[in-house]
Parts: sequence; structure tokens; C-alpha cells
Amino acid sequence: ALPEPFTLPFRVPPVLSPVRSDATGDHYRVTQRAATAEILPGVRTPIWGYEGQFPGPTIRSVRGRRTVVTHRNELPVPVVVHLHGGHTPATEDGFPTDLLYPAGWTGAHEPMDGVMTHGSRDYAYPMAQPSATLWYHDHRMDFTGPAVWRGLAGFHLITDPAEASLALPSGDRDLPIMIADRSFDADGSLLYPSLDPTLLHTPGVREPYGSGVLGDVILVNGVPWPITEVPAARHRLRLLNASNARRYRLALDPPAPLVQIGADNGLLESPIRHDAIEIAPAQRFDVVVDFGRFRPGDVVTLRNEFGDRTTTPVMRFRVRPADGPDPSRIPDRPAAAPAPAGPVAVTRDLRFRHGTVNGMPGWTINGEPFDPGRAVAAPRLGDTEIWRLSSDFHHPIHLHLASFRVLSRGIAGPGAYDHGPKDTIDLRPAEQASILVRFTDHPGRYVFHCHNLEHEDMGMMGVFAVR
Ligand code: C2O
Ligand code: CU
Repeated sequence: ALPEPFTLPFRVPPVLSPVRSDATGDHYRVTQRAATAEILPGVRTPIWGYEGQFPGPTIRSVRGRRTVVTHRNELPVPVVVHLHGGHTPATEDGFPTDLLYPAGWTGAHEPMDGVMTHGSRDYAYPMAQPSATLWYHDHRMDFTGPAVWRGLAGFHLITDPAEASLALPSGDRDLPIMIADRSFDADGSLLYPSLDPTLLHTPGVREPYGSGVLGDVILVNGVPWPITEVPAARHRLRLLNASNARRYRLALDPPAPLVQIGADNGLLESPIRHDAIEIAPAQRFDVVVDFGRFRPGDVVTLRNEFGDRTTTPVMRFRVRPADGPDPSRIPDRPAAAPAPAGPVAVTRDLRFRHGTVNGMPGWTINGEPFDPGRAVAAPRLGDTEIWRLSSDFHHPIHLHLASFRVLSRGIAGPGAYDHGPKDTIDLRPAEQASILVRFTDHPGRYVFHCHNLEHEDMGMMGVFAVR
């Protein structure tokens, strides 16, 4: 049976310790394996997890310090690891056909255009990028949705020693909040409508799930509708929507401002006060909430205003007396303004539409489904481009490698949730938006795609090849 909302304790995913730190960087080891997790009280739910955990352990990198993660695959399927929001060389980025097979794999090797490894491999990240809330997750071609649904997702935070001078809430007052909806069978197993339950051959989901798989239970860091006590002080909430397809409109009840200080790829130039935040799959909003405006004993609920009976509650905070003065503040200028953009070399039109993929209903970009061997765009290294994105449906569009700025949405400027350095834009039905993006540092083959994971698995992904 499902628990009552706000009865289970909130938890922060454990932080992974490096196995080695030296002049070459910080080195981590992660084993991907099948495990069980107690998500519903008293029930063992089979999951796939990084270190057998869902969410996976949090990795904390320091800006500018190389981070190498050795992933070992003990799952029954190939995997691909993508650091979402990483400014990463192409070989390390988790291209969807660069498959890491389990050691001793006896099954077929799909003849695909990619780099094949067995057992384990390193992913090396330069981390030459601003502090930000990133996350890592599976990215295998055709099967990302079910793999993430089973648990292959975790936080990867980049911190910057310079950030300390901002006096943002830190330590116990800096809370990663991974929100993901899931559904459970009567026996406690995760329900996902795969066409192929082996997750090896046939991609996609059964109808009527082709628009995206939604769950009726809201998990925060893997716990259904949790509750936590917080001192009456400012807290930093790192909101991540790790759901396959669900969009949320998050607000506090009783109402209190969510002061946004950071977007997907880093801090804002100035804080933005929101009464509610609309967050699409894969997006991150770093916000500060001042629980000091409440009285000890008050309960404050984080709600989803887009939800129904079971998907409106998200989590709850119970306020307790602060143990001293609150040293934190909300900086006027969390980050410096971005460098002015160079001249725009190319303007591209990318159309995200429903369509036919291998004779089945699916999702396309400019009329074509994903083909790992065909580049939809070939930007030159160092160039600035404008991409005009248009949609028929809700599509959260994500670019690997390059952080972008939203220039416009329809005939207006950026929307309320479009500010700051972004890697995922929430494109609404029949909408057109323009983004400004510069391709720097790393040439090679990357993808951009809809981060509704069912759309992604059913074709809505494209290659851009930086040359
Ligand atoms: Cu979060 Cu290409 O993915
Ligand atoms: Cu989509």
C-alpha cells in the first residue's frame, strides 16, 4: 500500500568519496547493479542503481579540478553514462551508441556506429565550468526512459571556492531535491510500459504512453512525499526534475517566495523572486527559501499546482527554532554577467514534431528520427549560433556540451523561467523560441534532444557535430 504523504523521512543522497585524489584529479568508482530499495514501507522494490542506490550517490566536483569516474557495468544490459550539463569532451559525454557492455556479455552486440567497451570504463570530466547543479543518468540509445525509471540517476554538483564569499545557505541548509514520479505494481515493483521488457531489442512504450510515461507517486530523492524538519532559517533548495515526462508547477503552501539564484548551468546575474516555478524534465532551479519567516511548529508544503490528487503533494517541511542567527544571505549578484556574444554565424530552424518512425508513431526533428550517423547541424568550433526551436507539443529541449541563453519565446522575450545559463528549455505546444549558443573548447559528435525520455527513445534526438 502507498504511504500517506508526509510520513516518511526526507533524506539527502550520500556523497561519494573519491578513491584517489592526486595531481591528475579526483577519481571515483561507481558500480552499476541491480538491487532492491525500500521505497514503499516494508516492500523491496527491484531497481537498477549507481552503487545499487536510487538516487545514485552524489558526486561533488570542484570547479577546474578534473574528475574521473570509473563506471563498472554489472547490469544485464549495456549502459551509457551522461553527465547532464557537463562541458565535456565528446568521447566522455555519453554518446548514445558509445555502449559500455557488462563484463562477460554473451548477448549480441548491436552493430552500431559507436565505441564499444566491456566491463568498465573511465569518464573523465575537465570540470572547467561554473559551479552548478548537474546530474548524471543513463543515455543508451532507445532505452534511456526505462533505465532512468528503474533508478539510473544521481546528482553531480560542481562547487566553486569563490562561491563561499556569497554566503549562500550551505551544509545542512543546502538540500538537493530530485523530484521524480513513479508507478508501482501491487507487489511493489516499478511499472513501466516497455514494448520489450528485456530492454534489449525493441524500443518504445505501449500506447497510450507514447506521449510520455507518468507515475502517480511523487518521489523526492527516492522517498514518496517525504517530510523533514528545518530550522527557521534560509535554505538553498536545488530543485531537479528527474521525471521522465512530468512537468511541475512548484509552490509553497502557505505561500512564500522561491528566490531563484541559479539555473541549469550556474548562478544568475541577479536573483529572481517567484511565487511558483514551472520545471520541465531535466531542468534545475536553485532557489533560496527563508523558513525564518515562519514560526516554529509551522508546516510548509511544497506542492505541484499541475498535479491531481496524488501528484499535487511533493514534500513537507516542519519548521523548528533556529539554533542561532542565520549567517546566510541572498547575494545581489550571484554571478557576473556573461561575456557579450560574438557575431551570429548561423541561424538554424529545428522543428520538433510528432511523426512516423520505422512505420510506428514516434517523434522527429525536422521530419527525421534519430540517426547516430547523420548530423542535423555541424557548427564550427568557436562559433555563436541562434537556434530557432518550434514545437507541436510540450518538448523540453536539451543540448549537450553547450550552455545557452534564451533570447525569445514567441514574440516576447525570455519567459519567467528562462533566465540564466541553461541547458534545457521548456518548449510549450505550438511555440517557437530562440536560443543563443556558442560551441567552445570541444569538437566532435554530440546530441541534442527532447528530454521527455519517451520522446527521446522514440526518435526525438539529433546529432550536432562540432568541427
Ligand atoms: Cu539529461 Cu541527453 O540528457
Ligand atoms: Cu518531446
